[in-house]
Amino acid sequence: MSEGLTPVPFLDLAAQFKELEDEWLDALRSAGARGSFIQGPQVAAFEREFADYVGVKHAIAVANGTDALMLSLRALGIGPGDEVITTPFTFFASAEAIDMVGATPVFADILEDDFTLDPDSVRERIGTKTRAILPVHIFGHATDMKSIMELAGTHNLAVIEDCAQSFGARVGGRVTGSVGSAGSFSFYPTKVLGGYGDGGMVTTSSREIEGRIRRLRNHGAVKPFIHVEVGCNSRLDEIQAAVLRIKLRSIDSAIADRRRVAGAYDRHFAGTGVRGPRSKAANAHVYNLYTIRTPRRDEVRQRLMERSIGSSLCYPQGLHLQEVYRHLGYRPGSLPVCEQATTEVLSLPVYPGMPDAHISRVCQTVLDALD
Ligand SMILES: Cc1ncc(COP(=O)(O)O)c(C=O)c1O
Repeated sequence: MSEGLTPVPFLDLAAQFKELEDEWLDALRSAGARGSFIQGPQVAAFEREFADYVGVKHAIAVANGTDALMLSLRALGIGPGDEVITTPFTFFASAEAIDMVGATPVFADILEDDFTLDPDSVRERIGTKTRAILPVHIFGHATDMKSIMELAGTHNLAVIEDCAQSFGARVGGRVTGSVGSAGSFSFYPTKVLGGYGDGGMVTTSSREIEGRIRRLRNHGAVKPFIHVEVGCNSRLDEIQAAVLRIKLRSIDSAIADRRRVAGAYDRHFAGTGVRGPRSKAANAHVYNLYTIRTPRRDEVRQRLMERSIGSSLCYPQGLHLQEVYRHLGYRPGSLPVCEQATTEVLSLPVYPGMPDAHISRVCQTVLDALD
């Protein structure tokens, strides 16, 4: 770490905690006073408020975003022998959930400008075993859902939207998570709507999917100690629901502030060799991550590190080339747009309340490294 410079953190979760500390402690005290810690009134209220925000009939709280994906797939009846088409440019959980239900992930390539799933590449991979498409609204940018839904309609496929990074992002006038058969969210603390621990949510307007997930998340029980199928323990805590309800109330201004930071980065980088993220439509991007592209990514990252500035390399390797998926037979060159991205991307600090002086320092350092 260089001396004399205040570090610029990649995220400032402690500052966000400070802002809400009193409200959150009150919620914690009232959960304690009620003696209700798991799936109580806070969870029920959070589910209703969440469904209203996303614009769906049902929201079902679960233990984390990976479970939200896995339970959505299970609720849709996807399992062994089935294929699910997804992106290789995502956090591992998007594909892992497909394996968790015994199905096989099939990786399609991504679009160069916003890193989301390329509908043309998806079309080429639809076969007799394909049962679903799992688009990921990566970094907070909505996927081209119009094309994905058209493909799904033509081939009778389910669509599970991975919204772990896209809370609040809009596509075609709708909020992500309300377009496909089901939407899956994560409340991991670094997310746009992040808790103080793990948490997740499934959104759907299907009564059938809702009922199945409610059952699966609680050991396949239809009432206490009466089990009709093998499920799992994937419930949300009252104290997580309490903090998430507090955060949900001001989420639009938190997203607006992420957009302020992204806009400032855009202006600093305009006309330089640094390519910032593209937002294809108003409100399509919530900037869970602000990811630049440069062929000299490693030099930039090194310089940021020397100046005590946080950054993150999301993602250094396409999932199709990970050792765990060697048996699927992909090779370097199989998905060239994704592979090129993995050599060039770098995510810069972005969080609500990020000071302008820190934004300028990050930009200056990136541009110095490329000088
Ligand atoms: C795109 C994506 N999908 C799924 C997940 C899994 O969520 P969780 O960590 O809550 O299980 C994450 C995040 O961690 C993610 O970024």
